Amino acid sequence: MRLVLLGPPGAGKGTQAKVLSKEYKIPHISTGDILREAVKAQTPIGLKAKVYMDKGELVPDEVVIEMVAQRVAKPDCGKGFMLDGFPRTAAQAKSLDATLVKLNRPVDLVIYFKTSVETIIQRLSGRRVCRICGENYHVKNIPPKVAGKCDKDGGELYQRNDDKEETILNRIKVYDNTVPEIISYYEGKGILRTVSGDFDVDEAYDHLSKLFVKENLK
Ligand code: AP5
Repeated sequence: MRLVLLGPPGAGKGTQAKVLSKEYKIPHISTGDILREAVKAQTPIGLKAKVYMDKGELVPDEVVIEMVAQRVAKPDCGKGFMLDGFPRTAAQAKSLDATLVKLNRPVDLVIYFKTSVETIIQRLSGRRVCRICGENYHVKNIPPKVAGKCDKDGGELYQRNDDKEETILNRIKVYDNTVPEIISYYEGKGILRTVSGDFDVDEAYDHLSKLFVKENLK
């Protein structure tokens, strides 16, 4: 199964991808996670990306395109993969296709999480992330057992820099400006499917599982 998860910040792409990638035993490739790791490690890419990420702007295409091209060519993507947060521009979508054609690993389906602005703001403003393992929580929707601590390793939970209100609003604006061309691109290919991003975690998972059966994806 080779999937692209498309949707606004806070649509729940990462939350669903983590569960599905375990269940289907395929890698979850999140460009946001890869970039945050690079920022943490202070690599040249990380130092460059941080400037854009902190403002809620997109990191330049040439940086992310090359990063993903290298990742999807790895052997563990032979059985499939789940791309989360990529592509985000038409140039990224086209270059992804070119890379995957060469690898004979074309995208099967693009799942578009259509999500209301109220949901996005409620989820992002309450998101907390573990400093050690990167697990996502939400102060109300998915609270940890002990406030401020990760259930898995007790790591401190922090708020992402780009989850501050002002940056959230810019991320939504950037998303609204770039997503229509990607939607048209994949609609044209007949592989776009829309699910509601407003469902709770279990409902969203149920809808996705049924969709995979209907589409005969394995
Ligand atoms: P990225 O990390 O990709 O952020 P995003 O797309 O803005 O997505 P999020 O992680 O915010 O949302 P999500 O849909 O994964 O939601 P989640 O499941 O975490 O990108 C960050 C930055 O990196 C970008 O701004 C850009 O600068 C750069 N970047 C990344 N990719 C790039 C690219 N391709 N090109 C250029 N630049 C790029 O859930 C959110 C919260 O809600 C959590 O607290 C969760 O617990 C909760 N929640 C999740 N699902 C539900 C549910 N169903 N019900 C209730 N609560 C839920």
